[in-house]
Amino acid sequence: MFPEELPSRLIKMFAFSGDTVLDPFMGSGTTSLAAKNLGRNSVGYEINAKFIDIARVKLNAQQQDLAGTEFHFREDHLQGNIADMLDTLPYLYEDPHKLDKKVDPRKLTFGSRIDHRNGAQREEFFTVSDILTPERIRLSNGLLVRLIGIRAESEKKEMAMRFLAEKVRGKKVFMKYETIKHDEQRNLLCYLYLENRTFVNAHLIKSGFVGIDESYEYKYREKFLTLTAQIDS
Ligand SMILES: C[S@@+](CC[C@H](N)C(=O)[O-])C[C@H]1O[C@@H](n2cnc3c(N)ncnc32)[C@H](O)[C@@H]1O
Repeated sequence: MFPEELPSRLIKMFAFSGDTVLDPFMGSGTTSLAAKNLGRNSVGYEINAKFIDIARVKLNAQQQDLAGTEFHFREDHLQGNIADMLDTLPYLYEDPHKLDKKVDPRKLTFGSRIDHRNGAQREEFFTVSDILTPERIRLSNGLLVRLIGIRAESEKKEMAMRFLAEKVRGKKVFMKYETIKHDEQRNLLCYLYLENRTFVNAHLIKSGFVGIDESYEYKYREKFLTLTAQIDS
């Protein structure tokens, strides 16, 4: 349920007095209540018939109001095969956006356990599908991920990408995160690990094919700098 103020503001913005407001997901009828109180008509659809009685009460439908509002509640039951009915429609709208969540936001923590019930198997595994640059990869669910601490160096870019591809492409990986979760391009910022807990960011740095991103503070920054110092010495 949302507060009446929410549909009220929208109705005032988008419908004139006497217009009809449609709420395709009516629930308890808050939209219709707001419409009624603002002098608009309304129509609502609700898949769960149990809401009819709740909406009746919310809208005070049993009492005559001064405006003489009429209420009609109709319960329709689908008869027949839904697939056949869909075939009779002039067109079907298919949403091209996949709403599967690509990453579980509850797991966007670094090391700290937030769900004790899942403590034993906290990691969520993904598969790497593409290496886009030395610091950016794509997972098989389409998620774009940026490796924390990695700074591509143009003259060694190809080698870094080859190194990364050999290590992670097609492999199962899991991620850990910092307080800052995304970069400006909305890539998820992560520390990447192979299933056997190999720390990919650190290995890539140790390969010497990339530089260190020193543009901000992150947990392993010092550690990464020592790794490059080892290579240099
Ligand atoms: C978040 S609730 C709406 C709550 C409502 N705004 C209120 O204040 O009470 C969404 C409603 O959509 C209904 N619903 C989900 N799928 C539906 C569908 N295909 N057709 C109609 N109603 C649907 C659910 O049963 C649920 O009551």
